[in-house]
Amino acid sequence: MTAFQTAVKENKKKSPVVQENINKEESIFSAKGLNLWYGNDQALKDINLDIRKNGVTAIIGPSGCGKSTFLKTLNRMVELVPIVKTSGAIDYHGVNIFDPSVNLVELRSSVGMVFQKPNPFPKSIFDNVAFGPRVHGVKKKAELKEIVEKSLRGSGLWDEVKDRLGESAMGLSGGQQQRLCIARCLAVEPEVILMDEPTSALDPKSTLKVEELIQELKKDYSIVIVTHNMQQAARISDKTAFFLNGEVVEYDNTDTIFSNPQDKRTEDYITGRFG
Ligand SMILES: Nc1ncnc2c1ncn2[C@@H]1O[C@H](COP(=O)(O)OP(=O)(O)OP(=O)(O)O)[C@@H](O)[C@H]1O
Ligand SMILES: [Mg+2]
Repeated sequence: MTAFQTAVKENKKKSPVVQENINKEESIFSAKGLNLWYGNDQALKDINLDIRKNGVTAIIGPSGCGKSTFLKTLNRMVELVPIVKTSGAIDYHGVNIFDPSVNLVELRSSVGMVFQKPNPFPKSIFDNVAFGPRVHGVKKKAELKEIVEKSLRGSGLWDEVKDRLGESAMGLSGGQQQRLCIARCLAVEPEVILMDEPTSALDPKSTLKVEELIQELKKDYSIVIVTHNMQQAARISDKTAFFLNGEVVEYDNTDTIFSNPQDKRTEDYITGRFG
């Protein structure tokens, strides 16, 4: 086991409640002087941001300001775009994720991601959730069954699908598909869950379910969520970062951002004057 894996495991052992009390503001990620370019176009500019452990951090800002780019940088998925270049650091468990010693498969299973459009695989409900564990070498049917049930319970979907696990995931509603994608993410036991506008394709009822789920999940996971919905950010997050043109304009407790923003640009954005 690598030092990185050990650190993640050790951290998981502590109960989240204890962690909350001991270290209320402990960070899980610490971005330091982070810059990112797509070719010659700079999309992130000198980002310095600590992401809170066991909480919900919302990223808000107008279209094109770099929210998705920042999110995908946290598990280095952004590098799937070949022209991407970065500088600066993001510390995670005391290691800069850009360090050559970091194993990308490990990083991406510790830092899972849920996308805007539910993207289940055209497989059964069971096989969707079992996908990650199988990739990681879990073969025993009983063990897989246990993981699948636990993950579907974790995403609040178990009662709705327990009698149709063998059926295609494509037959689920949009809201159920999104919770299936969350279950698929939970199945590899991540520590952080990145969510890029996870409810923007859902109706209000499914949105509420996912928001309630996020409140549950934050007890055990650190969540970073991008949203265009100001009410949603205000309802569900503990911290909010306002991005503009690739920079962090303001980062504070969500209550402060929405009731007493320090920067005029934040105020203009949250009151709907632009974006
Ligand atoms: N694959 C890519 N290749 C080149 N440029 C890109 C790529 N993806 C994003 N960009 C550019 O990076 C900047 C930030 O984009 P990003 O997708 O992070 O914005 P965003 O804040 O998530 O916007 P939205 O709210 O519309 O999702 C934009 O100028 C965008 O054009
Ligand atoms: Mg985006």
